[in-house]
Amino acid sequence: MIRKATWADAPAIASVHVESWKTTYGGIVPDAYLETLTVEEKQTLWEKVLRQSDHSVFVAEENGHVVGFVSGGRNRASDGSAAQYDGELYAIYLLKEAQGKGLGRQLVQALVGDLTQKGIHSLAVWVLTDNPSRGFYERLGGEKVAEERVEIGGKALWERCYGWQDMQTMNE
Ligand SMILES: CC(C)(COP(=O)(O)OP(=O)(O)OC[C@H]1O[C@@H](n2cnc3c(N)ncnc32)[C@H](O)[C@@H]1OP(=O)(O)O)[C@@H](O)C(=O)NCCC(=O)NCCS
Repeated sequence: MIRKATWADAPAIASVHVESWKTTYGGIVPDAYLETLTVEEKQTLWEKVLRQSDHSVFVAEENGHVVGFVSGGRNRASDGSAAQYDGELYAIYLLKEAQGKGLGRQLVQALVGDLTQKGIHSLAVWVLTDNPSRGFYERLGGEKVAEERVEIGGKALWERCYGWQDMQTMNE
């Protein structure tokens, strides 16, 4: 089940966020950095985000438990080729055991529906180039538009931007 997130979801979203970061980025991002991530810190962040009406956040539930989330809103890029898109998918994370069952696609569809209502029609997303999950964005028809160097936990990594001029094409 996919539903709009509420303020009360902050602890569950924070827990999924930290857990999924650890399983996704092990071997990509330095372990020392992953070990610094705490649910408490992420919870504070999500409580703040969920109070802001300019963020669209949806959760995926299985048996009454939050197993994933997506968040998005206006594009934060102000220059470069990524800035041509109105909207941005800020984050999407599912617990490992909830992946590969169609929930990611459903979360993206919910976000696209919400952003469309807000007058946003094109979308960008940034993903670490080393993250095999970039195949998900490629499967949804994302076009590679930019690559930038980022530093996470003292390690230099490549981040890639995928874009959709018309978000509705993701549903095809
Ligand atoms: C990326 C993620 C959100 C995708 O969600 P998901 O529920 O696993 O994906 P779905 O089951 O909805 O897949 C939708 C389609 O994308 C394809 N797909 C999913 N992950 C893929 C991958 N890594 N590589 C290639 N294709 C992929 C599926 O095969 C499916 O194709 P189909 O429609 O032909 O069957 C999820 O796997 C996840 O949370 N990964 C770890 C966290 C992460 O990396 N997040 C992104 C950070 S930028």
